[in-house]
Amino acid sequence: MKLFLDTADVAEIRTAVRWGVIDGVTTNPTLYAKVGKTSYDELLVEICGITSGPVSAEVIADDADGMVAEGRHFARLAPNIVVKIPMCEPGLEAISRLAEEGIRTNCTLIFTANQGLLAAKAGASFLSPFVGRLDDVNEDGMMVIRELSDIVNLHDLDAEVITASVRHPRHVTDAALAGAHIATLPFKVLQQMVHHPLTDRGIAQFKADWAKVQAELAEAKKG
Ligand code: E4P
Repeated sequence: MKLFLDTADVAEIRTAVRWGVIDGVTTNPTLYAKVGKTSYDELLVEICGITSGPVSAEVIADDADGMVAEGRHFARLAPNIVVKIPMCEPGLEAISRLAEEGIRTNCTLIFTANQGLLAAKAGASFLSPFVGRLDDVNEDGMMVIRELSDIVNLHDLDAEVITASVRHPRHVTDAALAGAHIATLPFKVLQQMVHHPLTDRGIAQFKADWAKVQAELAEAKKG
């Protein structure tokens, strides 16, 4: 299973890449707004220089022509750019047209398996169902991941399911077990996955025991 980082924060991306656990990055206008000191283009180029994995850049146009134009522009920025397009009627047309040009897309804001199926049929390389936002409205986000992953595998569709809108580490485990190809995580969730109180306590205990024996040896040498 691949892990993407869901952020536009370059420092977070650099850290996670150093850990050797990150296969790509997803951004969106909200994540860009949190760090937006440079232009979106400059930020994307910087991120694409940090990871060679897919980097999703989201369009904001409402119509298919506008989305295709933005998509072509993003695709020229770096070879690993993936154009993120929202699920909607013009979005499907834009995905289809960009696929014909060999430009990879990530269909975002997917909330049902049927929406994901349509995006895959249109030619999207990545399908992003939002589990957290479904859970927020008392629906079962993981059910959509399970259904869509099954559909992709059963019918050998040429698309990968990205578990998006991840809120906590349990979402990652469940997505992996549900057969999702990818989960895209906020940096905080990635950090939460690293830590466990027993691990931290174990490290502290090993250090304390080591220091104790070193002190005893030093004492014995003196005597
Ligand atoms: C995915 O690509 C989206 O950027 C993201 O996962 C949305 O998550 P949110 O529901 O926390 O905004």
